[in-house]
Amino acid sequence: MKADRLLEEIKSKIDIVEFISDYVNLKKTGQNYKALCPFHSEKTPSFMVSQSKQIFHCFGCGIGGDVVSFLMKHENLSFGEALRHIANKAGIKVTDFTVSKDFYEKRDKILLVNKEAMNFFVKTLNGSETASVYLKKRGIHEESIQRFCIGYAPDERDGLCKYLKKTGFSDSLIKDAGLALSDERGYRDVFRKRIIFPIFNYQNDVIAFGGRVMDNSLPKYLNTPETEVFKKGEALFALNLAKEEIRKKGYAIIVEGYLDAIVCHQYGFKNTVAPLGTALTSSHSEQKHQLSTDSHLQRLNKQHLQWLKPLTGKVVIVFDSDEAGVAAAKRSLAILSECDFRIKISLLPKGEDPDSFLRKNGEQQFNKLLSSALSIIEFLQTTSRGDRIDTVKDALGIIAATTDLILAEELLSELADRLRIHESVLRSELKKIKKKTGPHKLEGLKIDKTIKSREEYLLLSAIIASPEKADDILSRLDIEDLRENTIKSLFKKIKALVSKCNLSSLLDAADDSERVIITALSLKPGFDLEHIDRNIDDCLHTLLQKKFEEKVRHAEESGDIALLNLLLKEKRSLMKRVIP
Ligand code: UTP
Ligand code: MN
Repeated sequence: MKADRLLEEIKSKIDIVEFISDYVNLKKTGQNYKALCPFHSEKTPSFMVSQSKQIFHCFGCGIGGDVVSFLMKHENLSFGEALRHIANKAGIKVTDFTVSKDFYEKRDKILLVNKEAMNFFVKTLNGSETASVYLKKRGIHEESIQRFCIGYAPDERDGLCKYLKKTGFSDSLIKDAGLALSDERGYRDVFRKRIIFPIFNYQNDVIAFGGRVMDNSLPKYLNTPETEVFKKGEALFALNLAKEEIRKKGYAIIVEGYLDAIVCHQYGFKNTVAPLGTALTSSHSEQKHQLSTDSHLQRLNKQHLQWLKPLTGKVVIVFDSDEAGVAAAKRSLAILSECDFRIKISLLPKGEDPDSFLRKNGEQQFNKLLSSALSIIEFLQTTSRGDRIDTVKDALGIIAATTDLILAEELLSELADRLRIHESVLRSELKKIKKKTGPHKLEGLKIDKTIKSREEYLLLSAIIASPEKADDILSRLDIEDLRENTIKSLFKKIKALVSKCNLSSLLDAADDSERVIITALSLKPGFDLEHIDRNIDDCLHTLLQKKFEEKVRHAEESGDIALLNLLLKEKRSLMKRVIP
């Protein structure tokens, strides 16, 4: 069958909205469907799917196309692989279909071998008393065993190899799947006498395995080596089971180990995932060392986070509060911030992992732990044992790496508040760091409903979009009331430019960090330009409201009734100035 015929058939059977819904949380808005773009990070949805046109387009990053290009991009597949995958889903037989035979066929075959291997491990667990007893002892319920398809690799030289060959797979394919090794006596199983945790990808294919010994021998865990379907450091364990719940709860819990993730799910925390294992080491001390410097937070990388991005922008990381864990965490918080995640950190008591903690203390205590999770700044403060210089240094490093300027602003003002250091001091320190590490990426700035100084950004954005509005806005605003220092300084520059204010003159007047905000806002204003006047009115109104609420709160706190009355009067007249 020719590829274009197949494509036609696929498109007649698959609906793009239904298809993309498996990957992205689509919401109907008018004629179209909208979502947060899975291809770039954003906080306001600019990813659109049109059912009538059967296409998608992201107005944020400019990517667009049909079902096939969506899958190619989302799963990093070739055209042929994507076609094949969608055809399978649509129930179209593609045995005689050839686009680029070699690679994707191998991939599919490896997935098949893995699936069959999983069946074998599951069956073997059912027949193994010792393995079942071990899991029971570890507190793993039958339901979890089934949900996670936990299995057991028998204590045999080539039990799995024999089984797979009998099923019709070749030695070389079994080897390519990372399930067999060849030695002088022929092929032998990689996994022997281990509890087996299959690792699934986003759409439930078995891409690898992790195997744990049942005693103290080493290595404790053995993982499938890199294969054509498994790149280390890309997969997130339990993601396939957690994705819906992550979407529903609005955040993901990240833990370190296989068993931690399984036990979290067992106790109802089904939005839990774990990044995959580290390289293996031989001696125990070496392994300890390896794990401490290369623990889960350290190995958590951008690729992992890529999977979470379409589901949520928030994570809670749960980890041991020992020194090694804390050190690794610090080094990795930057990666998380760089990907624009809002991060909270739950510290477990020393020596505990989520698995042991849950079984000792139950889900209520774990819930408490989650809800009292620390912000990045709090975490740095707690773990620096009162050393302010350390805290500031670590925090500024993370803030410098944060591409989302608004997130960075929030962190900076929290840092200033908590450590009682003037924001301007922190800002000039930050500038020095940034000079070394290079400027922010443009794509970082998005105006989210939840940000503190949203109105200030929007007003600036309005001026950038139509500089002729500057006069009017400035006459209805007190620059000194602005809370965001960068914006305040930009407004001062705008005022100084008077009628000469336009995009290029403002860029000339701006410094580095201000310039990033200007260019970002000029590309993405953050509001509908057609309704710019209404937007300006709304923003000024909200700012004023906020200012008065604060003043009134102060007056109430000090019990100053006269001042309260004065404020209310002043408010009325000021409101008139803002909204004539
Ligand atoms: P841990 O040593 O903390 O083990 O490794 P664990 O997950 O708590 O397991 P139990 O409770 O001892 O059974 C954390 C994670 O690091 C990876 C695995 O992903 C493991 O779940 N790891 C650990 C390896 O890949 N290889 C190892 O040899 C050890
Ligand atoms: Mn453990």
